[in-house]
Amino acid sequence: MKTINANGAKIPAIGFGTWTLDDAKAERMVSAALEVGYRHIDTASMYGNETGVGAALATAGQNRDDVFVTTKIWHDQLGAGELQASMAKSLDKLSLDYVDLALIHWPTESVPLAETIAALNDVKSQGMAKHIGVANFTSALIDEAVAFSDAPLVCNQIEYHAMLNQSTVAATCKAHGIAITAYCPLAQGQALLTHPAVTAPAQRLAVSVGQIALYWVLRQDNVAAIPRTSQPQRLAQNLDVFDLAVTPEEMAALDALNATGLRVVNPGFAPDWDIS
Ligand SMILES: NC(=O)c1ccc[n+]([C@@H]2O[C@H](COP(=O)([O-])OP(=O)(O)OC[C@H]3O[C@@H](n4cnc5c(N)ncnc54)[C@H](OP(=O)(O)O)[C@@H]3O)[C@@H](O)[C@H]2O)c1
Repeated sequence: MKTINANGAKIPAIGFGTWTLDDAKAERMVSAALEVGYRHIDTASMYGNETGVGAALATAGQNRDDVFVTTKIWHDQLGAGELQASMAKSLDKLSLDYVDLALIHWPTESVPLAETIAALNDVKSQGMAKHIGVANFTSALIDEAVAFSDAPLVCNQIEYHAMLNQSTVAATCKAHGIAITAYCPLAQGQALLTHPAVTAPAQRLAVSVGQIALYWVLRQDNVAAIPRTSQPQRLAQNLDVFDLAVTPEEMAALDALNATGLRVVNPGFAPDWDIS
């Protein structure tokens, strides 16, 4: 598996996303994902499935060190002390001693960022996480967080797919050596997967539209992706996305989709996104 190297972390370029999967389904699908070769699993305290993810990891044949596990701390738990307590709870549910990556799930204005980043550094110092990072951070927030952090931040997990131009925040991440993990890399199956720029190469190459969408994401510099599926037969397909014979013309048509500006995840508490 190709890895994205970021400030000391080696992040497998494809991970399995688990949002919306309950404990039982997460356990089944993460077990199946590990079986077909996934070595990167993405969960969060907010997903309510860390117990199921942990159960799958416990019964899998892999050594703990061979699987890259990410969890995230919800935005109402970002104060000193509560962030560490939330992380301890996550580890308990996951039945793990550490995660590979602990992320702030969303920024908040309720707690000073310096306090949150200090608590996140403490999580790393205590050995609860090998690496730390953020999610849904804008360029300005990334600059601030980097300035506050003793340990390097390795990842900004953001919505990233062909129909959304994220070049501004991507450039900021790159400048700080921070990798992007693309969430909603399939735009949750919305307009992206039915657009001719995706369906035409899929048909020509006899692959799925999901594979074309993922191929585009993984051709971007410094970007890993964490597609989710609830269908076991799609697991292997979504890993087989590195060597598709997409032509330069087809790639150009995919690149042009970023003018669409489709943002799938945009809750009321989201920050003021970068304009690209
Ligand atoms: N940090 C954050 O704030 C944040 C926000 C959103 C998501 N995430 C993370 O990112 C992960 C991925 O994002 P997401 O789950 O929102 O959306 P996504 O991965 O973009 O899309 C999932 C959808 O795509 C469909 N799909 C999967 N493989 C396919 C294929 N090969 N062909 C066609 N359709 C396919 C799935 O349907 P089936 O189930 O029927 O296959 C599902 O409806 C999440 O699970 C979560 O771990 C993080």
